[in-house]
Amino acid sequence: MKHLLLRCLVLLGPAFALPALAAPPDPSAVRAHCSGCHRESSPGHFDRISDMRKTPEGWEMTLFRMHQVHGVVLDDDARTQVLRYLTSVGGLAPAEAAPARFALERRPNVQDLSLGDEMGVMCGRCHSLARAALQRRDAPEWLKLAHTHVGQWPTLEYQQSGRDRFWWESATKELPAKLAALYPLDTPAWRKWSAGTHASPVGRWLVWGHAPGRGDYHGTAVIAARGTDGYSATYTLTYADGTALNGTSKSVVYTGYEWRGSATLGQDDVREVYALSEDGARLSGRWFVNGHAEVGGDWHAARAEGAPAVFAVLPRALRAGAATEVVVVGRGLGTSPAFGAGVTASAVKALPDGLHATLAVAADAAPGVRPVTAGGARNADAAVVYAKIDRVVIEPQYGIARVGGGKVAPVIGQFEAVGYIDAAGKPGGIALGPLPASWSVAPHDEQAKAAEDVKFTGTMDASGKFLPAVAGPDPQRPFSGNNVGDLAVIGTVKDGDRSVSGKAHLVVTVQRWNTPPIY
Ligand code: HEC
Ligand code: HEC
Repeated sequence: MKHLLLRCLVLLGPAFALPALAAPPDPSAVRAHCSGCHRESSPGHFDRISDMRKTPEGWEMTLFRMHQVHGVVLDDDARTQVLRYLTSVGGLAPAEAAPARFALERRPNVQDLSLGDEMGVMCGRCHSLARAALQRRDAPEWLKLAHTHVGQWPTLEYQQSGRDRFWWESATKELPAKLAALYPLDTPAWRKWSAGTHASPVGRWLVWGHAPGRGDYHGTAVIAARGTDGYSATYTLTYADGTALNGTSKSVVYTGYEWRGSATLGQDDVREVYALSEDGARLSGRWFVNGHAEVGGDWHAARAEGAPAVFAVLPRALRAGAATEVVVVGRGLGTSPAFGAGVTASAVKALPDGLHATLAVAADAAPGVRPVTAGGARNADAAVVYAKIDRVVIEPQYGIARVGGGKVAPVIGQFEAVGYIDAAGKPGGIALGPLPASWSVAPHDEQAKAAEDVKFTGTMDASGKFLPAVAGPDPQRPFSGNNVGDLAVIGTVKDGDRSVSGKAHLVVTVQRWNTPPIY
């Protein structure tokens, strides 16, 4: 009876054939595990399943629900096969996923997409709009999703201040067409991507990146094939202070570009969420610590073989009147890099990923963005000379940390002090990148002061990392309140004899119990 009912529910999808692939992926795992409820209405077309496209994380959430709500049990092997099939016939083209990658990369404190007031309140009040923006469906399927929402979470309409409007009216009458116009199933981008052949990440790579609170790192990666569409990678990386950040990774590339790896990097077990560029020349994204997605780093990689190229200068900011040790990450850089008038490079040493040099910057070197040339290659925007820091902006400007305890780890708040110089014709000034700073916290307002939030919410360490306190009723607080609160975060950068400070707002709030792959 249950199955009959379920069948009725799922057989309502319209037939829609996705464009054929160069080498058709094998649907046998989906046929074996899903077609009992999702009829294969034409060869390779499974009702509902074939009527939408999602990211690997989106499909994982679906499989989780098929398990949790509909009792579909898959072992690891079957799960992998199903996921590979779904992401290859029903993925997002790189350009389609690009605007909301921050959600896949689990970047902390990023502002969600803005799709207007109506969509923000209707769909963005419980979860990110990114969750919707990372799917593609036609109007009938967006409508079914509204039904799924109220069918499976019947109190949904009344949650999160949902009674401020006729949610169901809007979700079923207006939004399906609007969502289908924004995020339709059939697009030229996907037709082109799914019909094409895709680059392989196998080979040698140059790597550079930045881990907030820890610093810049650079080095090399070697990626080799593992099984049919898996890869293994070996990383030889170092932080700017010389600490090794070596590691190994096992990954799968979904949809021809979505690199998902499990790695050890330095001391940490990390997840890698990278995208291989369409031409296969770049691999970029973010890695984050397992169980602490807020802790991680940016990742950039470019092929080790190829024409001379300057990719990055670490650090990017060069102080006039001082000597700075720099690493130039690039290919075929030769031995005489140039940073423009007033900057002299010495002690140039070749590195596997570029070169190391000592730069003497004259006291009167002109401040501003510097093109960097080496080995005949030029990067117009790789370094900045500055004489005086005009402003410091603390990033994030508005951050959230969460108390921890019991089975739920705290969510750490990581801040950085980004220096700026003013420049004619550049309203926002020129960013110098994150600079070393000293850190403190203060009450955000009078209420926070009266409640002694600074004392109860946690501690700030020397690297701008806020470690929240333990959750739960605290008998030392009025009414045994939780250790939540409202803080100002102050970062101060030394600039010669001056110091320049910036301020940000940190909300230390309650635990998050539900941590799906896409918030
Ligand atoms: C026991 C029956 C059953 C099986 C087996 C089953 N499903 Fe479902 N599936 C459902 C029902 C019922 C719904 C509609 C309610 C919902 O979305 O949760 C559904 C909905 C879906 C949807 C639409 C969800 C959305 O995003 O709107 C997808 C996609 C899906 N299933 C994928 C799968 C895949 C892939 C498998 C095989 C691994 C599978 N299902 C196996 C019962 C099943
Ligand atoms: C009252 C809260 C709430 C509102 C409002 C809401 N959602 Fe959801 N949404 C949820 C919950 C809960 C889930 C299920 C999470 C899970 O499966 O882990 C979900 C899941 C989703 C998913 C993933 C479903 C899948 O299986 O692929 C999408 C996409 C989505 N919502 C889009 C929307 C859109 C579009 C709107 C506006 C029409 C909307 N949501 C409004 C609570 C809400």
